[in-house]
Amino acid sequence: MPHLAKSLSRTINTKIAQLSDSQITTFNNQTSKIPGIIKLTIGEPDVNTPEHVKQAAIADIEKDDSHYAPEAGKPELLTAISDYLNDSLGVFFDPATEICATVGATEALNVAFMTLLNPGDKILVPTPVWGVYFGIIEMTGAVPVEVDTSQDGFLLTADHLKEVLANEGKGAKAVVLTDPSNPTGRVYSKQDLLELAQVITDNNLFAITDEIYAELIYNDKKHYSLTQIIPERTLLLSGLSKSFAMTGWRIGYIAGPKEIMKSVIKVNSFLITAVTDNVQAAATEALVHGAADYPIARNTYENRLNIIETGLRKCGFSMATPEGAFYIFAKIPTKFGQDDVKFATDLATKAKVALMPGSYFGQGGQGYVRLSYAASTEDLEEAVRRITAYVNDL
Ligand SMILES: Cc1ncc(COP(=O)(O)O)c(C=O)c1O
Repeated sequence: MPHLAKSLSRTINTKIAQLSDSQITTFNNQTSKIPGIIKLTIGEPDVNTPEHVKQAAIADIEKDDSHYAPEAGKPELLTAISDYLNDSLGVFFDPATEICATVGATEALNVAFMTLLNPGDKILVPTPVWGVYFGIIEMTGAVPVEVDTSQDGFLLTADHLKEVLANEGKGAKAVVLTDPSNPTGRVYSKQDLLELAQVITDNNLFAITDEIYAELIYNDKKHYSLTQIIPERTLLLSGLSKSFAMTGWRIGYIAGPKEIMKSVIKVNSFLITAVTDNVQAAATEALVHGAADYPIARNTYENRLNIIETGLRKCGFSMATPEGAFYIFAKIPTKFGQDDVKFATDLATKAKVALMPGSYFGQGGQGYVRLSYAASTEDLEEAVRRITAYVNDL
């Protein structure tokens, strides 16, 4: 087994060496070892990819589709993405120049940040947020500026954005929005986005909007996008991982103005050449023939949300109303103190339910826990019983 030469141990890229390990992964691994644990820690759909989508990939392999695809993606996939965005948002992106297929939304984030950010650039990141953003931004050498949204129901407001731009965020180049949000399940209204768009324009910012959970919005609330208001300064990032239970396929995309997409496509091709052929075939099938799949997933998650939200509220947790994605970000009852890592560790050990400490999602997450309800109804009902018993026992 090779060991790195001692004389080379300091040669690793310093930005990479300084990146910290993911606390989420560490906590998830630790709690996985507890026998009988119910894990509500990870945002992974517990259902399988629809059958017709799997068959499309199999058929594609069987017809020997195994050559380099065009770097932005195959025309049929790009057209399917364009049609999907046009149908759902009423915004047209030209499949020939304004869309790029990526290896999941994670690669889309890497490509977008690499394309936009120079070392030292500031980018505003409303928190609590999916922590992977920080690692990716830091790899570019740019500086993430956390904007704590906990006082505004976990939504970035136009006034708060203005205030940050006048202070620690002065000179920022871009802002990233996650809508619906991981970890809070919050969703921006049309009015919220109109007000934000004005400040973004007044301050000549780029907007990067991560809409991976766009299909998972509940209680008849509707999804809006900054691309409907300021398409000229927005990059939309999304993918099929969550809406089609396709996390392992690794398929996402970026859409935006063609002037910037030229650079986006260049970066994407340096990173991955192009997305795997049969994955593109599966994604095309999902987008073209999968309209019936969304409501099934949405109804399943909405029912689960009701079970878990009611259960948590009954035993003393409070929360800003979760409206999308599959997460609840719940305030720990005051009698437990506000050390979320201690609380989540004790709950995992004694009640055998694993929730993620809120502080792992950045500023404003202290004193909260994130619960993912992408789990079976039986597990969620049992988790509510265990949490209730734990809370009442104290
Ligand atoms: C907000 C957000 N963006 C992006 C991703 C990554 O998506 P993908 O699996 O397509 O890389 C996740 C996954 O949890 C997420 O929560």
